Amino acid sequence: MSGRTYRIGVAGLGTVGAGLLKFLGERPDFAPAGGRAVVTGVSARSRSRKRPVDISNLPWFDDPVALATSPETDIFVELVGGSDGPAKAAVEAALNAGKPVVTANKALIAEHGAELAALAEAKGVPLLFEAAVMGGVPAVKMVREALVGDDIRSIAGILNGTCNYILTEMEATGRAFSEVLSDAQRLGYAEADPTMDVGGFDAAHKITILAALAFGCAPSYAAAEIEGIDQIELLDIKLARDLGYRIKLVASADRSEDGVLVRVHPSLAPMSHPLAQAGGALNALFIEGERIGRIFVQGPGAGAGPTAAAVAADIADVMTNTVRPVFQKPAGALAPFTPVDPSRSMGRAYLRFLVKDEPGVIAAVSETLAEAGVSIESFLQKPVENADGVPIVLTTHAVAESVLNAAVERIAGLPAVLDRPRLLRIARI
Ligand SMILES: NC(=O)c1ccc[n+]([C@@H]2O[C@H](COP(=O)([O-])OP(=O)(O)OC[C@H]3O[C@@H](n4cnc5c(N)ncnc54)[C@H](OP(=O)(O)O)[C@@H]3O)[C@@H](O)[C@H]2O)c1
Repeated sequence: MSGRTYRIGVAGLGTVGAGLLKFLGERPDFAPAGGRAVVTGVSARSRSRKRPVDISNLPWFDDPVALATSPETDIFVELVGGSDGPAKAAVEAALNAGKPVVTANKALIAEHGAELAALAEAKGVPLLFEAAVMGGVPAVKMVREALVGDDIRSIAGILNGTCNYILTEMEATGRAFSEVLSDAQRLGYAEADPTMDVGGFDAAHKITILAALAFGCAPSYAAAEIEGIDQIELLDIKLARDLGYRIKLVASADRSEDGVLVRVHPSLAPMSHPLAQAGGALNALFIEGERIGRIFVQGPGAGAGPTAAAVAADIADVMTNTVRPVFQKPAGALAPFTPVDPSRSMGRAYLRFLVKDEPGVIAAVSETLAEAGVSIESFLQKPVENADGVPIVLTTHAVAESVLNAAVERIAGLPAVLDRPRLLRIARI
């Protein structure tokens, strides 16, 4: 057992950074291989800000790059956030200085992971990011390490707790998106600027990383198709429930002979499916492999305790001197990311149209769908709920997305259709 003391430099003292300082303050000898992890330098934006942990005795660095390259830092931990700016500068500086890096920064890894992996591997130091995906749930290690004996076909999950909380509350309380979002912001479940979360971008960062780990390709955030939950209406949540589904923000990555399809969409999950059952701020993940079959995990995707635990697990890996490829393969051997054209992807869908309450409208809608090659699986016509018209709701059999979109556009142009049609995918899970 090693008796070495590892000097940890922590940049970022917010939710995760403070959680890590608290943990290492209480349990510096937590690592299975022995040794101690002791914080010996910190950096954040404001030195005077009141924090839940005492940093008065710790050396302070105004510049995270200086902390990253300090001779007193053995392991650099980046908990600032953001795909560029000080986080990227400090991580690059630490790697260039030959120091192991641990980060929780999904934006940085999703957007610059390939180049950072090449740099880390050239320098022979680890770059670890367990906390970047699903917080306390060890999704990264599971996909990168525990599942290398399998060939993963697809991954689908709920990767953003804020969105899951909002959708769960909308269904449970019958309140609209904007009301629930305001409450979530007041309670600290959502950021003051919620765009990264509700716009689907945070989930897209995470599924981009999982796709790279699962399929042995370079991460390619730019290839992700992203739609958030900000347009989800209460009416669709209720109608989906009548059809036996729950609306979730599903992030998925699928591998086929054509390439990889990475997308984030509000999707309908069958009510009895575990993904539909994961409520509140929980994260959940389904993985399907050629040999192992299906795996399901769920747990806390955020919060000081769970996320700091994941960061600590990476620090423990550094302390065991394990250096493995940053992604599933060495950076130079990662396959280029070959995106699949989403318009060719096949799937079932939920459609809602608000139509005039007059004879022949349903026939016109179904004929237009049939002519376009979309076959209807189920039809639901609700009693009048809206003085302006009647909602028609239907689900389709599997159809190519381009065909579906063309059909919906034609229906939108029918004189009896009063409002923008709503299209939601039914999750392929
Ligand atoms: N929160 C979670 O549950 C969670 C879960 C998984 C992953 N993550 C990831 O973990 C990282 C940190 O998240 P967080 O929630 O802890 O963020 P946070 O609470 O907003 O804290 C960010 C920290 O970075 C510091 N900072 C910001 N700009 C800086 C700059 N220019 N130079 C130096 N320091 C700067 C801030 O300083 P001040 O305190 O002085 O303002 C603050 O201490 C992010 O990448 C996030 O995506 C978070």
